[in-house]
Amino acid sequence: MARTAILSALAQEQQGLLHDLRHARRVQHAGREFWLGELAGQPVVLALSRVGKVAAATTATALIERFAAQRLLFVGVAGALAPRLAVGDVVVADGFVQHDLDASPLFPRYELPLYGRSRIACDAPLSELLHRAAQAALAGLGSEGAAPALHRGLVASGDRFVSGFAEAGALRHALLDAGHDALAVEMEGAAVAQVCLDYGRPFVAVRTISDRADDQAHVDFTEFIEQVARRHAHDIVRAWLSQLP
Ligand code: ADE
Repeated sequence: MARTAILSALAQEQQGLLHDLRHARRVQHAGREFWLGELAGQPVVLALSRVGKVAAATTATALIERFAAQRLLFVGVAGALAPRLAVGDVVVADGFVQHDLDASPLFPRYELPLYGRSRIACDAPLSELLHRAAQAALAGLGSEGAAPALHRGLVASGDRFVSGFAEAGALRHALLDAGHDALAVEMEGAAVAQVCLDYGRPFVAVRTISDRADDQAHVDFTEFIEQVARRHAHDIVRAWLSQLP
């Protein structure tokens, strides 16, 4: 059976999954810990991307080259960029753009030089499964209050924790001017998407909104990861894995 890699940026987001991992085996590689085992009947490898695009690209490359990952899933948190998103909502990515990539005037702003594109799409069938898994997991949480909303769309990545109301607005509008309606911002997804494109591996991602990328972002972010995001990560990933072919 094909091995699936599950990446998160932070240990708290990985904890619940690690707890459930059967036949767990830890391997140290490239200064990182990789956990091999079985989750929901699927062979998996769990890893922390660490924070930022380069660290995430290193982790993704190791997952493919050394651990034979055949598909990659990123699960974590993101800041909201689109006004309709609220803290606690969940975004299933349909593609990624790097908001801090600018090789103009050689290439249009946001375009990946020599790739002829700005966006990298997620794998459509696996994203559809992920969307359904998130729906099911969030419906399960609904009994404890209003269920969080589920969104699907573009996510922007960059090497910056966005923590200012004006900064988040400027980022959103610059992206919109170039035709990119980014729902959320984080720091790793586009890098993993690019590695997966290079290696021909399907990639999907789901992010829970931890903050509004505004002046309060750092406080909301820390509390949120502990209280909500790890539970979402656990429930959504398990539901997704159990539907995989
Ligand atoms: N991940 C979660 N919140 C974020 C933010 N505000 N900026 C960048 N990455 C994030």
